[in-house]
Amino acid sequence: MKQRTISIALLGHGTVGRSVYRIIQENHDRFVENIRQRTGQTVDPQIIGVLVSDLKKHSELGAIATTDPTRLLEQDVDILIELIGGQSPATELMTKALSSGIDVVSANKQAIFSSQGKLEKIARDHHVSFHYEAAVAGAIPILRSVKSLVSGRITKIEGILNGSTNYILTQVAQGVSLDKALQQASDRGFLEADPSSDVDGFDAMYKLGILTYLATGRYPGEDDIERVGITGLSPDEIEQAGLADKKYKLIASADFETGRYSIKPVALESDHDLYRVDGALNGISLWHEHAGGLFFQGAGAGGDETASAVVGDLIDAICLRILRCQHD
Ligand code: HSE
Repeated sequence: MKQRTISIALLGHGTVGRSVYRIIQENHDRFVENIRQRTGQTVDPQIIGVLVSDLKKHSELGAIATTDPTRLLEQDVDILIELIGGQSPATELMTKALSSGIDVVSANKQAIFSSQGKLEKIARDHHVSFHYEAAVAGAIPILRSVKSLVSGRITKIEGILNGSTNYILTQVAQGVSLDKALQQASDRGFLEADPSSDVDGFDAMYKLGILTYLATGRYPGEDDIERVGITGLSPDEIEQAGLADKKYKLIASADFETGRYSIKPVALESDHDLYRVDGALNGISLWHEHAGGLFFQGAGAGGDETASAVVGDLIDAICLRILRCQHD
């Protein structure tokens, strides 16, 4: 009997997009088996199209590469993976997909935060699923963890949510110049297309906003979050902190008791949970009414690391789609 194909459209073939594409190709049989165990159905997940900015630069993709997102979405797509980043056209494309009955997986913290819950509502209204684990803290399954803590209130979240600035601060503390550290972060694929999003704290702000939504059911507005980037910190201040056994980190903090939200550089004492979270790692401390204190740490940026969260969401989306279709 012919297996049902699950058609996947991939928007973006940059650092994360390439990793997602490769991991899906290399692990096809593992995914088929995982889906079969979870749903009882054997399906064939296939990437049917990849949106790229320049066909010549992605010639290895052959005929499935396209520069036309509208034509891509007009194919019989079951699941869209959105990895182009930025607010527009990503928001419009996700809106179109969700409204057309396509499940969406995204890593786009900016578009998700900026839509302030509208994308989630469109997904609910159209009975499709919308997943974005990769939008916050890369490989760390933090959104799943926050969602599962429904037994009581989360009172506070404090974390390092931006891998590139953590990498830069770690390098500068070790004597590397700011320019060189920035270049290294860029070479490793940690920075956003517009690096000011990282160094000015926007990226961490979007992520803290998404965590707040999952913890409280409400997105804070941009004006509700105090935001200070790392550009005001001098190498001398970073060095002085080191001499005093402290480390500067860009700390994202949400206190749900007082309603105070901030992104700002803090010189952490050596006994702080986040003190040893160095390089491109992210770390998150969370306090919960019943669970107590929890601590998460892992890769916050990078192709394969972020792709791990995207692919986890993809397999969930496929399973949910199969189970939903069984009852339609
Ligand atoms: N630019 C982001 C960071 C990538 O440095 O954390 C991962 O979201």
